[in-house]
Amino acid sequence: MLAKSKISGVGHYVPENVVTNNDLAKIMDTTDEWIQERTGIKERRWFTYGKDTVASMGAEAARKAVANAGLELSDIDFIILATLSPDYYFPGPGVKVQEALGIDTIGALDVRNQCSGFIYSLSIADQFVKTGMYKNVLVIGSEVHSHRLDKSTRGRSVSVIFGDGAGAVVVSATDKDSDAGILSTHLHSQGKYAEELCTMGPGNMTTPVFETDYVSDPEHIFPKMNGSTVFKHAVVRFKEVIHEALNANNMAPTDIDLLIPHQANLRISQFVQAKMQLPQDKVFNNIQKYGNTTAASIPLALSEAWQEGKVKEGDLVCLAAFGSGFTWASALVRW
Ligand SMILES: CC(C)(COP(=O)(O)OP(=O)(O)OC[C@H]1O[C@@H](n2cnc3c(N)ncnc32)[C@H](O)[C@@H]1OP(=O)(O)O)[C@@H](O)C(=O)NCCC(=O)NCCS
Repeated sequence: MLAKSKISGVGHYVPENVVTNNDLAKIMDTTDEWIQERTGIKERRWFTYGKDTVASMGAEAARKAVANAGLELSDIDFIILATLSPDYYFPGPGVKVQEALGIDTIGALDVRNQCSGFIYSLSIADQFVKTGMYKNVLVIGSEVHSHRLDKSTRGRSVSVIFGDGAGAVVVSATDKDSDAGILSTHLHSQGKYAEELCTMGPGNMTTPVFETDYVSDPEHIFPKMNGSTVFKHAVVRFKEVIHEALNANNMAPTDIDLLIPHQANLRISQFVQAKMQLPQDKVFNNIQKYGNTTAASIPLALSEAWQEGKVKEGDLVCLAAFGSGFTWASALVRW
């Protein structure tokens, strides 16, 4: 018989370096007013080179999640790490998290699904636990964007949006009759829009590889985004995938106690909130403080919401994401 899985612990870590919109205005042609009006972002964190890495931040968030679950690191059976900003081209940072946590040779899987990476990872963990293969799986989202952003005026429409940080949860086996648990996950992709939000290199679609042209062409090394296309698809897919999760569980929007959308842009979250007819206190946002941290944004928001007492036992929590790929996903969780 299949087991059931639940989120048993949450944790997050953000770098100490706070970068305000006014700080950005000193290095590129932008204003606090423009950024807040279009994105809701007031400040974000940037990593400290030589101190923070995707792996170190992910490991720190993971330690907190394991403690929050009341577990020891040695209880963890498997690590899943989602990121679009790996410390090395290869191997992925999952193995460095394994090393940092010192958990003896357990498996570490790297997931490359950008803004939806955390929910994809949660879904994988859910399947591993349900089948009985693992009892406790660490699911981590961690990003260092600031190292690879075009911080000149040329890159301003992208670079003001993204920030660095990490969040983690532990997915654990639970009594199959318990109310708490991951009720369902829903994953989607549409590769025809891959180039609408992407970083081309280092990769095999850019030539020549590793030559001077490579570094002289910002198209190859910096993220590029067709902002209006992303916005238009995001608002449709968020609503669709939330409804998909609710329908799968015979529930309605009024059943949701807290919606935690991927922190893409405050305007997108507000649009989704209005379309779902949810009151403001049922949608959690912290993009104002951290910007868009892609794979880290949902566990970072979930961890903060939990700390603030906004996620309580018995609550129905809906997680939803949309981003580069395009990929989108949702999860419905009874806390
Ligand atoms: C990125 C986004 C905020 C841009 O807003 P927009 O209204 O589409 O703005 P545009 O790109 O049309 O640019 C409008 C003007 O602002 C300028 N601009 C762009 N970035 C700017 C910045 N940081 N500061 C000041 N001006 C800026 C543009 O150059 C343009 O100037 P112009 O009219 O003289 O040509 C918006 O498209 C968006 O939110 N998209 C979704 C992005 C997202 O959520 N991505 C993450 C997905 S996971």
